[in-house]
Amino acid sequence: MSDGTPKAAYEIAVVRGDGIGPEVCEAGLQALAAALPDPAKLSLKEYPAGAGCYQETGVAFPETTFEACRDADAIFHGAAGIPGVTYRDGTEAGLDFGLQLRFRLDLYANIRPIKLHPGIVSALRHFEPGSIDYVILRENTEGFYAARGGGNVVRGEIASDTSIITRAGTERIVRQAFELARTRNGAPRDGKKRVTVCDKANVLRSYAFFRKVATEVAENYPDVELDFALVDAMTVHLVKRPDFYDVIVTENMFGDIISDLGAATVGGMGMSPTAEIGAQNGFFQAAHGSAPDIAGQGIANPLGTILAGAMMLEWLGKRHRDNVLMDAAARIDRAVGKVIEDPAMLPGDLGGRATSAAITEAVCRECRQPA
Ligand code: IPM
Ligand code: MN
Repeated sequence: MSDGTPKAAYEIAVVRGDGIGPEVCEAGLQALAAALPDPAKLSLKEYPAGAGCYQETGVAFPETTFEACRDADAIFHGAAGIPGVTYRDGTEAGLDFGLQLRFRLDLYANIRPIKLHPGIVSALRHFEPGSIDYVILRENTEGFYAARGGGNVVRGEIASDTSIITRAGTERIVRQAFELARTRNGAPRDGKKRVTVCDKANVLRSYAFFRKVATEVAENYPDVELDFALVDAMTVHLVKRPDFYDVIVTENMFGDIISDLGAATVGGMGMSPTAEIGAQNGFFQAAHGSAPDIAGQGIANPLGTILAGAMMLEWLGKRHRDNVLMDAAARIDRAVGKVIEDPAMLPGDLGGRATSAAITEAVCRECRQPA
């Protein structure tokens, strides 16, 4: 809980997870320690969850881990899931950690910054660092995801999951989008503060409803431009004119899909942090999965998780009015920007050959430099 004042130490529930999860988590923790004047500002406690935990114990998300996550000041995660470690319905067991957290802690705002950092060559020609800088605000508790575990398969012939969109759920995420736009500098293309509502209002009632509610909320924010895009067209826009976007707000599954597309335009999933925020809790990780194919080789890109650490510090810092954390967040951001400007520091997924350890060390060294 926060009473809006700084704490001597913040309790962080750490879940390392599966595949490359433990490696990237470790990298993130090292960067956090390097960026803070005193690493003891974060009190780290580790808990088990994920596919490995399921294999060992038969439970993917132990209740004790849930309680610790709920009661901590923030939750920091590597990555979870091993393909093939599934429940009898075919869905992956390891994913229960992140998914149950979303629902049980009501982490309704999934914040996914898509930013082209200096040193990264975009998959899109003509776009330079600075020209892609938007945030996808993904509604994180509704849509088809709300049906997880409740779908039906009938006679082996018909399967259904039901998508849920509520007024309350839509209002709160759209409000967040406008509030976020107010704090930003607008779209790179024209400097306009803009919220784009992304849906499929032309085909389904639930999305037409999402758009209607969003339009009502927008009336309270005349200083921010309101824009609409159908999700299929959005995949084209994010490739052809990413500089037009500032804040994009969208339904859960659309947000899942377009945030991966956005990540691909700024270096890939390895560069994409994500913050899942509710009224009381914040959960931070990279948006990529556990990449079991490269686990244990020391070559995973740690930067997504390191940037997620910066998002955690920024969220905690704002919530507790703690400038020490805000400064440390800015330090990590700056350090990542500097490190990847050096081609020798690019990881494999960005076309380089640097190891996770080398990149992490360089980021930590940079974090320790006087500002
Ligand atoms: C994400 C992931 C998750 C999702 C999975 C791992 C459950 O893809 O955070 O984008 O589908 O939301
Ligand atoms: Mn995803």
